[in-house]
Order: sequence, then structure tokens, then C-alpha cells
Amino acid sequence: MRDTLRVKNPSHLPIQHPDYRYPGSLNPYWTKLKQTQGWVYSDNETETRRGLWKSGHSTPSQLHVEIGCNAGHVIVELAHREPGNHFIGIDWKFKAIHRAFEKAQKRGIQNLSLLRAHAERIPFMFADGEIDHLYLFFPDPWAKKSQWKNRFINRESLKLIAQLVRVGGIFEIKTDHPGYFEWMEESVAANSELWKVRSRSTDLHLGHPNPTTLTFPEVTCFERLFIKDGLPIHRLELERLG
Ligand SMILES: C[S@@+](CC[C@H](N)C(=O)[O-])C[C@H]1O[C@@H](n2cnc3c(N)ncnc32)[C@H](O)[C@@H]1O
Repeated sequence: MRDTLRVKNPSHLPIQHPDYRYPGSLNPYWTKLKQTQGWVYSDNETETRRGLWKSGHSTPSQLHVEIGCNAGHVIVELAHREPGNHFIGIDWKFKAIHRAFEKAQKRGIQNLSLLRAHAERIPFMFADGEIDHLYLFFPDPWAKKSQWKNRFINRESLKLIAQLVRVGGIFEIKTDHPGYFEWMEESVAANSELWKVRSRSTDLHLGHPNPTTLTFPEVTCFERLFIKDGLPIHRLELERLG
């Protein structure tokens, strides 16, 4: 009986299931996002442009995607700096995506799409090799051993992500959490045929005279807080191998 119900209502399927459907929400920003026109996509709408994100641009442009963009501090700035490329910010928080939308609208930015979605569904949002540059800044570290299964980066997810990033494309990651960083490096080492480490640092701002003066997009919102707290920033830059 339970299984029959699950099949009838695809929002009860696991998030990674191809037939998963996002449920509606009482969050007021759920409705607000549906009312934005043009370049904000929410829920299953985020999966309707798979393979098409670069179309509609007269010049060959690159696709940059930030997972966990929060209120868009970094992705809006990057889009502003590089009008010739297309940028996409993904976050599961309704209000944060709406904030990013307002910011971008105020600045008249045209080369940005914002996706309110679960990051776990990226294989349904992007086609193979569609992404040129992927950013993941300060993902939740899920510090306790019992929570490690929730970490976004692991041996399996790095294989899935590799499908979406073009050969020669970049995957840039930052974290303040040494344990998660070590876990990430082990996951990369287990996928060394897919990813090459182009650069790594366990104290990115070491030697900077005053890293608290750094601004977006050189640092993220969370990174500014970690810098203030004196925490070293860990960074990995990976290249997708052919
Ligand atoms: C620790 S914050 C970092 C935000 C931002 N990257 C920064 O560095 O300031 C993690 C972000 O990831 C988002 N997030 C966490 N899990 C997610 C998921 N499964 N899908 C989409 N977004 C997620 C959160 O809503 C939050 O905005």
C-alpha cells in the first residue's frame, strides 16, 4: 500500500530519482519565485533547460555554475564582471534565491540564471560536458561521523559531477573545515582518472597583509566570517581530465 502511494506521488521519491517532483511549499517566497519572469527557475522548471543553457548567445560563451550560491554575493559579481559568459547560481533556499534575483535585477544583469533547487539534482539540470566552470564554496561540512553520508562531495558524486563538466573545465572548491577537506582530497584521489588537482591550499590567504579587506567575488559571505574568526581557508582547484 505504501509503495503504491509513493509511485502515485513522485514528490515522495528519493531526490535523486529521475521522476522526483518537488512538492509545493507554504513558504511565501515559493510563490514569489514563481512570479519572477525570465531567468529565475524553481523546482522541476530548473530541469527544462538541460543542454540549452548556452543557447541564445550570439558568441560562444562559457557556462559558470555556483552550487550553494546563497543570496548571490559571488555569482552576481562574477556575472557583472564577465558579461560575455553565462552564470548560474543554485540554492535550495527560496528567500536567498529571491534576494539574489533582486540584486541582479537592480544592477541590470542579463547573463545570469538563478535556480531554486536541490544540488543533488544537478544531473537533471545540466547535460554532459555543459559546464565550463563549477564553484562549490563552503558546503555544509556535516562534521559528525553519523552525518558524513550527507556530504555533497564524495567518491560517487565526483563521478557524476565529472560527467557535467567539459574536459579541461574547472571545479573550484573552498571549505573552512579541515576534516571535510581531507575527505574531499581522498575522494579526488579515488577519481584520479577524472580529476587532476591544479592547485591546492590549506591556508589560502596566508601572506595577505589584511584578508579582512577582501571583497566579493574574491571571497564569499561565509569566507569573510571565517577570515574574521582567524580560520584558515582551504581551496582545491580541479581540472576535468579527458
Ligand atoms: C554554508 S553556506 C555557504 C554559502 C556561500 N557559498 C558562501 O560561501 O557564503 C551553504 C549554502 O548551501 C546551500 N545548500 C546546502 N545544501 C544544499 C542543497 N542540497 N542544495 C542546494 N543548496 C544547498 C545553503 O542554503 C547555503 O546557502
